[in-house]
Amino acid sequence: MDKNTVVGIIGSGAMGSGIAQVAAMAGHKVVLYDNNETALDRAGKNMSATLQKLQEKGKIASADEILNRFTFSDSIAELGHCGLVIEAIIENLDVKRSVFNEIELMVNSECILASNTSSLSITSIAAACKNPERVMGLHFFNPAPLMALVEVIPAIQTDAALIPAAKTLMQQWGKIPVIAKDTPGFIVNRVARPFYSEAIRIMEEGIADMATIDWAMTEIGGFRMGPFTLMDYIGHDVNYIVTETVFTSFFYDPRYKPSFSQKRLLEAGWLGRKSGKGFYNYSEGAAMPEPTKDMEKGKLIYERILAMLINEAVDALYLNVASAADLDLAMTKGVNYPKGLLAWCNEWGTENCLAKLDELYHNYHEDRYRASILLRKHAIGNKKFV
Ligand SMILES: NC(=O)c1ccc[n+]([C@@H]2O[C@H](COP(=O)([O-])OP(=O)(O)OC[C@H]3O[C@@H](n4cnc5c(N)ncnc54)[C@H](O)[C@@H]3O)[C@@H](O)[C@H]2O)c1
Repeated sequence: MDKNTVVGIIGSGAMGSGIAQVAAMAGHKVVLYDNNETALDRAGKNMSATLQKLQEKGKIASADEILNRFTFSDSIAELGHCGLVIEAIIENLDVKRSVFNEIELMVNSECILASNTSSLSITSIAAACKNPERVMGLHFFNPAPLMALVEVIPAIQTDAALIPAAKTLMQQWGKIPVIAKDTPGFIVNRVARPFYSEAIRIMEEGIADMATIDWAMTEIGGFRMGPFTLMDYIGHDVNYIVTETVFTSFFYDPRYKPSFSQKRLLEAGWLGRKSGKGFYNYSEGAAMPEPTKDMEKGKLIYERILAMLINEAVDALYLNVASAADLDLAMTKGVNYPKGLLAWCNEWGTENCLAKLDELYHNYHEDRYRASILLRKHAIGNKKFV
């Protein structure tokens, strides 16, 4: 794969359009295919407007030069001469498997096929193909042109030689690739779960209200957004479904259990910012609740959520989901955490982190709070993660 590789993108929605823009700006010819003409038309107009703006800001020399690299098409056959095809259609396994099956008939035997799925098994998608060894996951983050991280995910069938080639290509596109094992949520969507679920749990227990939890995580924790603000921003249709998918995919491990508070928001259609109401009310004139700026309580909230996040990262390391370096890169570059969680653990002290988890486990007697064996081992002598 090099600059001469024609890149095909299936799905011209938020992700497909973003990835297409990245590939075109890196110098590739790009075929953007969608089976919905209206979506395709919108994508073409948006692409033109985005590139125009980048030109005005001096970020690119010529919008037209990049636009000329695009073919927008509602015919899948147009992808026939692509060397790499990235699928970014709806998150539905059956639909994705059928598209992969179809695309394989269009392209030549050298073409690499990738999925941008957030939560589905790459192995299962690859199994729909006659040549599953050419299939992998390339998981970009939203918005793709701005977020540096790409999770590169080999399926168990993937030809191992393709992974370094994909990594190099992503670097050429200006991205930061990390390698993730094909397990539910890959790195980011697995490790980040407690940021949301533990925050909701603290609220449900009446320990603190949303505004106070958000305040603790931004002011004390240094996160860019508090969990409730962030969930409202992502949208509960997306965030809740990812939680539910990760939970069921992990054979109902209680560590990933979704909450009723968030499920009810989804049922009510209170999807967050996009619908004007979620945990918070965004309608005009509505007052935002004020946090109780109690440092002692804030520290308790922050340490509880942080301990849960670190435990997830450590357990992912223990189970070889990714290397320590990639785990920390993923959380800082994929979801803008102020520090990598393993580095954060080193700074806080492995012993302190374990003590927090064991305190929670002792109080609740819930499997949700079980510490990873790797954290327990590192806590002996307060060893650091490297
Ligand atoms: N939105 C995010 O934050 C995000 C982040 C990372 C990964 N993802 C993943 O990326 C994928 C796409 O998400 P999105 O947010 O861009 O969705 P989207 O709804 O914005 O766009 C999906 C597009 O795919 C098209 N499409 C649907 N079925 C098709 C088919 N059979 N053939 C061709 N085109 C088809 C639709 O017309 C639509 O334009 C999903 O798998 C999602 O899980 C999303």
